[in-house]
Amino acid sequence: MTPLLRLDGVSKSFGALKVTDAVSLELAAGEALGILGPNGAGKSTLFNLITGGLKPDEGRIEFDGRDITRLAPHARSRLGIGRSHQIPQPFAGMSVYENLLVGAVFGGRQSERQAQSHCLDVLATTGLIDKANRAAGALTLLERKRLELARALALKPKLLLLDEIAGGLTEAECQALVGTIRAIRAAGVSLIWIEHVVHALLSAIDRLFVINFGQALAEGAPAAVLADPRVQSVYMGIDEAAA
Ligand SMILES: Nc1ncnc2c1ncn2[C@@H]1O[C@H](COP(=O)(O)OP(=O)(O)O)[C@@H](O)[C@H]1O
Ligand SMILES: [Mg+2]
Repeated sequence: MTPLLRLDGVSKSFGALKVTDAVSLELAAGEALGILGPNGAGKSTLFNLITGGLKPDEGRIEFDGRDITRLAPHARSRLGIGRSHQIPQPFAGMSVYENLLVGAVFGGRQSERQAQSHCLDVLATTGLIDKANRAAGALTLLERKRLELARALALKPKLLLLDEIAGGLTEAECQALVGTIRAIRAAGVSLIWIEHVVHALLSAIDRLFVINFGQALAEGAPAAVLADPRVQSVYMGIDEAAA
């Protein structure tokens, strides 16, 4: 079966720094992949290459069976690639609901009427329905994280890319967010989740991919990857201890 997403030998350099180094990976439809790696390993860059904010120097990216390597970001979002940002980027002066609606309508795949009803569904799924009319700039950290998730879901993505969405939350908030992410998965959305909060990540993914210095270090079943000596030497005492 054609994978939903396929990266084949993708590389990207900033000046002399090779931030993505011949990365190949596949994601099946319905699958959830976790990405781990130290700060600066090139995780967010990988998302920028998938969403089109950056173009690779080498390699090829396919989504849903088509070559998207040179496609503009808005065209990729129309094909069904959605993301949350590591640093939330809402329209601070707009209400929560308006933030979603803007994305849903200008995302281009839904009529205004469809978008309105879909956005209400998304607000319910993400636990923001009570905050629908609040200005996005007035939200708490957890609510801002939920809004990042909701804004991505407003576009009805087939593939959702989550960039460190659980960082900075309390344990209870983190559990609640994981519950939401699991519900999104159960609804059939494929996902790739970059996360330092390892126990949260493990409770929602099928497979783990570890990046170090822009290169794939290990990939496979989460337990086997975490037990890999190369991964342990990178993570020695840092994230497993925190988990
Ligand atoms: N637009 C850019 N220009 C120059 N360097 C960048 C740019 N984006 C990221 N980098 C550098 O690339 C490396 C990887 O960054 P990033 O992908 O954000 O890492 P991670 O998300 O794994 O922490 C870092 O050294 C970062 O400073
Ligand atoms: Mg990052």
